[in-house]
Amino acid sequence: MFRPAVALAALTLSGLAWADDGCSTTVHGTDQMTFDETAITVPAACKQFTVTLEHPGEMPKSVMGHNWVLTQPQDEEGVINDGAAAGIDSDYLKPGDTRILAHTPLIGAGETASVTFQTSQLKAGTAYTYFCSFPAHALVMKGTLSLGS
Ligand code: CO
Repeated sequence: MFRPAVALAALTLSGLAWADDGCSTTVHGTDQMTFDETAITVPAACKQFTVTLEHPGEMPKSVMGHNWVLTQPQDEEGVINDGAAAGIDSDYLKPGDTRILAHTPLIGAGETASVTFQTSQLKAGTAYTYFCSFPAHALVMKGTLSLGS
């Protein structure tokens, strides 16, 4: 049964809790090795931006692990190669890799992780790249992030 008053109250509460100012987004990483978002625009008014990664699948981290990693486009290949060498215990990311602008931990089915980063490190007009650094996943699990207006 639809009850408008209750729905409105719930919306207001979630708005308070989450501060829905457009400075966040949610990306799903699936058992089909996909991200459901392939382009993210960060509103220029946001001082910080939060990306929440959810894994709604059923496969464990060791088989179908996903993370969300943001870099300059020219750094993607190096970050992925060094991440593969670092191994799953390092979430397929080289510890201390300064080419990584932001990243979540590696997660498996049923898990959620978030990362919040300062938008001051983003330049207007640059299409940053994001991807999953699990070996071979970035062939399909990738997208672009840009600073909007
Ligand atoms: Co993945």
